[in-house]
Amino acid sequence: KTRVAVLISGSGTNMVSLAKAAQAADCPYEVVLVLSNIEDAAGLQKACDLGIEAVSVPHRAFGKDREAHEKAVHAELQKRDVQVVALAGYMRILTPWLVREWEGRMVNIHPSLLPLYPGLDTHARAIAAGDTEAGCTIHIVTEGMDEGPIIGQARVPVMQGDTPDMLAERVKEAEHRLYPQILSNFVIQSCN
Ligand code: GAR
Repeated sequence: KTRVAVLISGSGTNMVSLAKAAQAADCPYEVVLVLSNIEDAAGLQKACDLGIEAVSVPHRAFGKDREAHEKAVHAELQKRDVQVVALAGYMRILTPWLVREWEGRMVNIHPSLLPLYPGLDTHARAIAAGDTEAGCTIHIVTEGMDEGPIIGQARVPVMQGDTPDMLAERVKEAEHRLYPQILSNFVIQSCN
């Protein structure tokens, strides 16, 4: 099985869906590491509960030196022979250095129908624009933020009276279904 690390900053619900899918015998990947830049990210405990090694590499310890932080992250990945990195709510902009190290082997999930709404506050922006549809996108990570080749998308309706939180919840349910499928396809295509 392809050795996957999941990088998180927060609640880690997408990480849990990836890890649970990996428990199936025919899943082509296994989650060997969950790594967070936030020491007390709730997702780290969820990873431990699933029996997955969880580590934090706090960016604060490195001050403004983003590459030094990423070198520490990269070292953790290398130590576990990670083959593919899945970003799942990892709220750091990556430097070109890390992106190049993982070129073609790193994917990200973003809570909008890219190319619409790269960056933050995607749900509030979709509602403000009067969109009737929202969703999530999985893409290969390239140097431009939220810009790499799209490998999966799922759509959900925007309902009358939706708040950003309500829409975020609906999008997350779609994310949890989409990410394991698309990551499986990706590792089959890129690692065999
Ligand atoms: C997800 O909705 C993901 O798409 C988004 O953060 C959430 C993480 O939730 N990612 C980004 O906004 C990346 N810019 P989770 O920690 O519960 O999986």
